[in-house]
Amino acid sequence: MKSKVKVSASLLAADFSQLASDVKMVKEAGADLLHLDIMDGHFVNNISFGPEIVRSLQGKTNLPFETHLMIENPQRYIKEFAEAGSRIITFHIEAVKNPKKAAKLIKLIKKAGCSPGISLNPPTPISRIKPFLKNVDLILIMTVNPGFGGQEFISSTLRKLRELRKIINRKKFRVDLEVDGGINQETAKMAVSAGANILVVGTYLFQSENIKERIEELQCIE
Ligand code: DX5
Ligand code: ZN
Repeated sequence: MKSKVKVSASLLAADFSQLASDVKMVKEAGADLLHLDIMDGHFVNNISFGPEIVRSLQGKTNLPFETHLMIENPQRYIKEFAEAGSRIITFHIEAVKNPKKAAKLIKLIKKAGCSPGISLNPPTPISRIKPFLKNVDLILIMTVNPGFGGQEFISSTLRKLRELRKIINRKKFRVDLEVDGGINQETAKMAVSAGANILVVGTYLFQSENIKERIEELQCIE
């Protein structure tokens, strides 16, 4: 049986003045993961929040924390985000100039007790991450240019998804394929049929009157 699609709720679209209750709300609505967008104002043109906020959410929920580092020098912050409660730590391949550094970063994340993930921006080819497929647990395909919530899904990214799904299945890699940006019921269907099995969802969830229903619908996509 094909396993169910997972929904990772992106806290970027939550009400920052009441994070704890929004986290509780998405948990009760059935989200599988909590997606934490870390932006430094350098790698992307926006600043979000840092490890202290992540740490403060520990104990408020048992949803696994998935930390998406949109920052330069990710190696400097792995330990801090791991200690703040991250279960998965994903860095951007564009933030790593030398492939040897990416391999080191993966090791560092594992050493810190977390599952490693690599993300790639819409214009970045999958050849950049291919050498690491056997060493990571997650590939995060950006379906918008990172930095802000509420953007429109870039459908040309579907080609990369299809290609990656083929490689992962052919080589039997145990890697989750996640999409992030502009996900709603319609774009989720396209992404899942192209091979995604985890959907990061921000605006579409938090702007809904019935989050539970939306999460269930997304989880049922085949
Ligand atoms: C964008 C972030 C996303 C963002 C998605 O750079 O990585 O996680 O929160 O938001 P929506 O679902 O609103 O596109
Ligand atoms: Zn994200």
